[in-house]
Amino acid sequence: MKYNWWHDRIAYQIYPRSFCDSNNDGIGDLKGIISKLPYLKELGIGAIWLSPVYPSPNYDYGYDIASYYDISEEYGTLEDMKTLLKEANKLDIKIIMDLVVNHTSFKHPHFEQSKDPNSKYHNHYVWKKGRVSKSGKKLPPNNWLSFFTGPAWTYEESNDMWYMHLFTKEQPDLNYDNQEVIDEVKKIMKYWLDLGVAGFRCDVINIIYKTSYANGKFSVYKRGLEHYLSQPRCHEILNEFHRDVLGPYNAFTVGETTDVTLEEAKTFTENDELTMVFPFDHTSVDYRFLPLFKRKYKPSLLIKAMRKWQENIPWNSLFIENHDIPRAISRFGDETKPELSGSAIGAMILTLRGMPYIYQGQEIGMTNVDFKSIEEMKDVTSKNVYNLLRRFKICKKTALRLVNNFARDHARTPMQWKNSENAGFSTKMPWLRVNNNYNKVNVETQDKDTTSLLNQYRKLTKLRNSSEVLRRGDIEFIKSHKNVMSFIRTYNDEKILVVINLDKKERKIKLDLDGEILYCNYDEILDGTTLRPYEVQIIKK
Ligand code: GLC
Ligand code: CA
Repeated sequence: MKYNWWHDRIAYQIYPRSFCDSNNDGIGDLKGIISKLPYLKELGIGAIWLSPVYPSPNYDYGYDIASYYDISEEYGTLEDMKTLLKEANKLDIKIIMDLVVNHTSFKHPHFEQSKDPNSKYHNHYVWKKGRVSKSGKKLPPNNWLSFFTGPAWTYEESNDMWYMHLFTKEQPDLNYDNQEVIDEVKKIMKYWLDLGVAGFRCDVINIIYKTSYANGKFSVYKRGLEHYLSQPRCHEILNEFHRDVLGPYNAFTVGETTDVTLEEAKTFTENDELTMVFPFDHTSVDYRFLPLFKRKYKPSLLIKAMRKWQENIPWNSLFIENHDIPRAISRFGDETKPELSGSAIGAMILTLRGMPYIYQGQEIGMTNVDFKSIEEMKDVTSKNVYNLLRRFKICKKTALRLVNNFARDHARTPMQWKNSENAGFSTKMPWLRVNNNYNKVNVETQDKDTTSLLNQYRKLTKLRNSSEVLRRGDIEFIKSHKNVMSFIRTYNDEKILVVINLDKKERKIKLDLDGEILYCNYDEILDGTTLRPYEVQIIKK
């Protein structure tokens, strides 16, 4: 295998709106991020993935971009971005931008102009004539559904046409049948690479190409998917991006690839169409059919999902949280035992094979919030699903409970820096409420406590950053207990055994745990082969 910088680094995802507010307007910003670079360096971070910081009307908080060559005023200026790149570079931290090019904002000037069928931008988006029902009612061109509820089409009075959007109606999809769109994306990528970014996290990149606009087969969610999921032409377009821009710059890409299968993931990565992909099998093990409905979490299912990818894909993305999914400790751990259950989850992410991604706040064990009303939530998907449930006559309480099951707002509450007003995120009322547990769960308090989760994370990242075996070694899973993840990493002649009890219960295993203990999340190592709840042992063989 040819090694590149991403094989040896730990990434950290920042959701800028909620990370650190430097000018106290309630919204995180670039200067805030710059001020926390030393913190990230100390955490062992080698790359930052920045969620979108471009100008946006914020219908989807930055995932609706109105201008691709600039920085949102809320977050700062292009100069601030250059400073961030320079300061990060001094600390040898790479910056990865979020590239959102399945759609733009409806406020993007090209979309506004595209409404005119004679405009040169008309074909940059997907405009179609609608259908008419027997009773004369206007109907959209097909039956596809938006990922965020409702039809994937919106009617435009001025041209008597419909435009397609797989997300909100404020996020019109681009038309990848048009070479000009492809060329524009290349220009955007070049622009940021020339400014010094190291690569891109590519938003919903495997659905950009729509092969046909025929009706989708019946489904209550993502109807139409078979016409646009990981299409052959999508692979060709990504190849072209790689050939013309990404390859020559040796740029890194990680694709957010919704519903991606193992086979598809191989195709995306084998020819360098993407450096790596984000699979989501393991993040849905406690969901029943839709994220709305939960089922009892079983550690064995998480282990199975992780193992499948580890054994079939040579280089994986190792993540358990991001800005779209609820907090890991609240789902897979125990909120009353954040040091133990949080470090078990952290150890998994930091010892498997691939590139680890830590999401802001994961390192201090931030948890879900018990949102008491829909008004406390800010995310469009929370609001849409809530309204949909209410339309189906579901009572407010149940609707709120179901929305709380999946709400993306859980991951987006302000980062907890201190035990002071608004968790030290801002002196002004933050744009989204702070979690009440900030008196314990915050960076300043945990920094001083050697047993805190933050310090467990620091130990684990240090171990990984100093161990070629953990970074580059092969991986082989070994049998222990179904709720215990056990594997051996091997590099040259060195071997490291990792045993992680992901269960809240004590578990007995029959494994030889002799060797030098490199890490354990309990103070005292017990003899024998009983693993205490969430116990982790990393052993040099
Ligand atoms: C991705 C992003 C999500 C966004 C969606 C539409 O899934 O992670 O936050 O809402 O794409 O851009
Ligand atoms: Ca601010």
